[in-house]
Amino acid sequence: MYNHNKLKIGLFGSNCASGRAVTLVPERWSGSWDDNLRLASMADAYGIDFMLPVARWKAYGPVGDYQAATLETLTWAAGLLGATRRITIFGTVHAPLFNPVLAAKQMVTADHIGHGRFGLNVVVGWNEGEFQMFGVTQREHEDRYAYAKEWLDAIKLIWSAAENFDIHGNFAVMRGIRAHPKPFGGTFPLIMNAGASSTGRSFATHNCDAFFNVTGSSLAEQATAVQAAQNEARECGKELDVYTVGVVTCRTTQKEAEEYYHYAFVDQADWVSVDEMLAARNMRADAMTAAEFAKVRRQQATGMGGWRLVGDPDHVANELAGLASVGLRGIGISLVNYVEELPFFCEEVIPRLERHGLRDAR
Ligand SMILES: Cc1cc2nc3c(=O)[nH]c(=O)nc-3n(C[C@H](O)[C@H](O)[C@H](O)COP(=O)(O)O)c2cc1C
Repeated sequence: MYNHNKLKIGLFGSNCASGRAVTLVPERWSGSWDDNLRLASMADAYGIDFMLPVARWKAYGPVGDYQAATLETLTWAAGLLGATRRITIFGTVHAPLFNPVLAAKQMVTADHIGHGRFGLNVVVGWNEGEFQMFGVTQREHEDRYAYAKEWLDAIKLIWSAAENFDIHGNFAVMRGIRAHPKPFGGTFPLIMNAGASSTGRSFATHNCDAFFNVTGSSLAEQATAVQAAQNEARECGKELDVYTVGVVTCRTTQKEAEEYYHYAFVDQADWVSVDEMLAARNMRADAMTAAEFAKVRRQQATGMGGWRLVGDPDHVANELAGLASVGLRGIGISLVNYVEELPFFCEEVIPRLERHGLRDAR
């Protein structure tokens, strides 16, 4: 993440079975540790900039197969950081589920294992079923971010304070805090958030180094969102990098890519899981028109929001260049089978991005 690539490319969601592809095709991603290890080594060798996991604790519904198995992200990150040399590996941490003293220590340990390559995605959570599983009451929406602010301030203090200290917060009182070592090299891990609400965005602009935005379905809307987030950050004296996410289907020809996309995300889509995911967010057929419901179902098949980049290498590279042109700093991509598809992406799309001047030659 600290290299000169103008457009950073990362892999999103590989710690979960099926990644972000809500499909039943037999070649869908296993999410197993061994496959993640193979993927991280491959991504590191190809110069991919980061891996971003999804903190998911159980499948969305009683029946669906999607993300039924997931690896916990801090232990996943620690393992991958030990096995790689260059790539940044994020851990995704639910602030309301992790005690900050424990989380700060776990993250520092991962950061030392990776010699400074750990990154933090701080999330407040939204999935009621997961909170119930932990026996934790989910706060009202605004309070989630008030809590996350106090939590993140505590983490930063734990990472920096030389002397013992107490915290008398609105949500917790903690005494005699002492934590060594500090993050590797004396600098904080990169901190990101991906809130979709205006409160979530403000939390990112005020407290984080990077913001992942998935709102907006056109380049113009994306440009507006990037500007709005960066302006808000500048008002509090910060520079903010804005990223997005997408699902990539790249094949030798446009026709092949579109056919595979249709096969994986329409014919073989895991519609049971799609409907369970929508229900978890109170999106039901009786709450919208039939056309709207059909549209959100199609979108949901490729994870929750983000770009669908489907085509031959020229097409995918041009689309990525379009995203860079509206000020995006990078994208976390997902593939149906990360290990099988990454070599083609890296050998065909990345060189085109180099020719666009968006990435340094490897
Ligand atoms: C790139 C990205 C990664 C995310 N990762 C997670 C995650 O791992 N776990 C989770 O519960 N929510 C995750 N989210 C959801 C957001 O953190 C956020 O809670 C959600 O978009 C709702 O926004 P709000 O909290 O502002 O209402 C992610 C969203 C995006 C766009």
